[in-house]
Amino acid sequence: MSDIKSSGMHYTPPTSDTIQTKPFPVRGERSNSVNKPHVIAMVGLPARGKTYISKKLCRYLNWIGINTKVFNLGEYRRHATTAYKCHDFFRPDNIKAMAIRTQCAVDALNDVCQWLESGDGEVAVFDATNSTIERRQMIHDIVVKKMGFKLFFVESVCDDPEIVEQNIMEVKVSSPDYATMNKEEVLADFMLRIEHYQEKYQPLDERKESMLSFMKIYNTGEKVLVFKHEGHIQSRIVYYLMNIHIVPRTIYLTRHGESHMNLDGRIGGDSDLSERGKSYGKALSEFIEEQDIQGLRVWTSWLKRTIQTAADVNAPQERWKALNEIDAGICEEMTYQEISNKYPTDFAARDQNKFSYRYPRGESYEDLVARLEPVIMELERQGNVLVVTHQAVLRCLLAYFLDKSADELPYLQVPLHTIIKLTPVAYGCKMERIRLPIDAVDTHRPKPKIPGYLDQRFRSKENNLHT
Ligand code: ATP
Ligand code: F6P
Repeated sequence: MSDIKSSGMHYTPPTSDTIQTKPFPVRGERSNSVNKPHVIAMVGLPARGKTYISKKLCRYLNWIGINTKVFNLGEYRRHATTAYKCHDFFRPDNIKAMAIRTQCAVDALNDVCQWLESGDGEVAVFDATNSTIERRQMIHDIVVKKMGFKLFFVESVCDDPEIVEQNIMEVKVSSPDYATMNKEEVLADFMLRIEHYQEKYQPLDERKESMLSFMKIYNTGEKVLVFKHEGHIQSRIVYYLMNIHIVPRTIYLTRHGESHMNLDGRIGGDSDLSERGKSYGKALSEFIEEQDIQGLRVWTSWLKRTIQTAADVNAPQERWKALNEIDAGICEEMTYQEISNKYPTDFAARDQNKFSYRYPRGESYEDLVARLEPVIMELERQGNVLVVTHQAVLRCLLAYFLDKSADELPYLQVPLHTIIKLTPVAYGCKMERIRLPIDAVDTHRPKPKIPGYLDQRFRSKENNLHT
């Protein structure tokens, strides 16, 4: 067994000396919904989806505007020790390894606290097994008693051997721990690793740890137990984690077919499809038919162009007002050129911070994300879904699935007549773009170097946006 790297060996647990405690910021200094830093600490045996849940939760919280970061203890351990040899490292009687593991946990917790103390961080997810009462007590002492942060444990309990084996084959075979082993060797070694943890595993128990707040997720959400959860952020986490599932499925996203407003270079409105837009609707329904998708549901907005696009798709349909395009307020149905002429200050302001800019009497991308949260929540609950919606809405949905920042979000490329196919893989989503062979205008206006600058394509009189 290898030694801990020099940097970590003599680490002292965080004390009021090593981590300066400042008065906590008043409400409003941090983002809208959290005013006290939070630590979400995972609990569970190996291969119970802790990293999956951590990453997914982080992506969701960042998307709703809560600055969140995952601290994965496995990475600290790999950094602290040279190459992993085998399951022996995790034996409870391996004293030397146990010291390294505890030290790594303290190092990671110290980083968690420093990040939250720095002022930017709002929620830190501590992704580790945290499988003993002693370890959770240590976390509580540091996070709650010393730092005054909020602490919420999320335990994943899974006694279905098929799921555990499937998890190992899906993600552990490609772990850096197992670079030199074949799949069978990985499975055998990982099962022994789990056994070592099982010897000392103490699931969260409301009688033994009555001072803790936690939730327990059994067999990927079959049952959920929530104990002493407090406040808005914990409620949101509980609600979100109650809605996710791991059953394989595919989400298809597309904009409506080209509309008359698109042809004219006008934003918003509620116009009909152009001839090419109608052809796209037909081609889309043929494409979907060919895919032969089990239990497909189709969601559109309330606007004519999405309803017309999906009309021929042979599957149950639902209309969501929340899927309507961004409301451009006083700029509805204008061209970018007209907006820049009539409201030059607004037009430039939008280029300066497109995510936060709110059209007078209309919406911002930030508003749109808030409006779309119920759609994301319902998408998480569903199986195969085709969503037919609009440029700005699609950017928001894609940012959630692909973990894009608020800066990138309003500039994501979502061309007309293109199907975006999202398939969950390992810890994220695989994206494929399928461009159907029907021409359409290009409505994407990239971020200009000079705010308010309108390039030739949008300046031309006839709004000649054709690709
Ligand atoms: P380790 O302790 O070794 O880091 P882990 O508990 O973090 O393991 P993951 O690496 O997250 O396990 O395992 C990923 C797999 O877990 C994915 O294949 C995912 O489908 C699956 N998974 C996600 N949620 C759950 C859950 N609630 N219960 C069991 N498996 C889950
Ligand atoms: O141009 C089509 C459109 O869907 C408009 O209705 C909407 O205002 C616009 O795209 C959103 O894109 P952007 O935020 O880049 O202006």
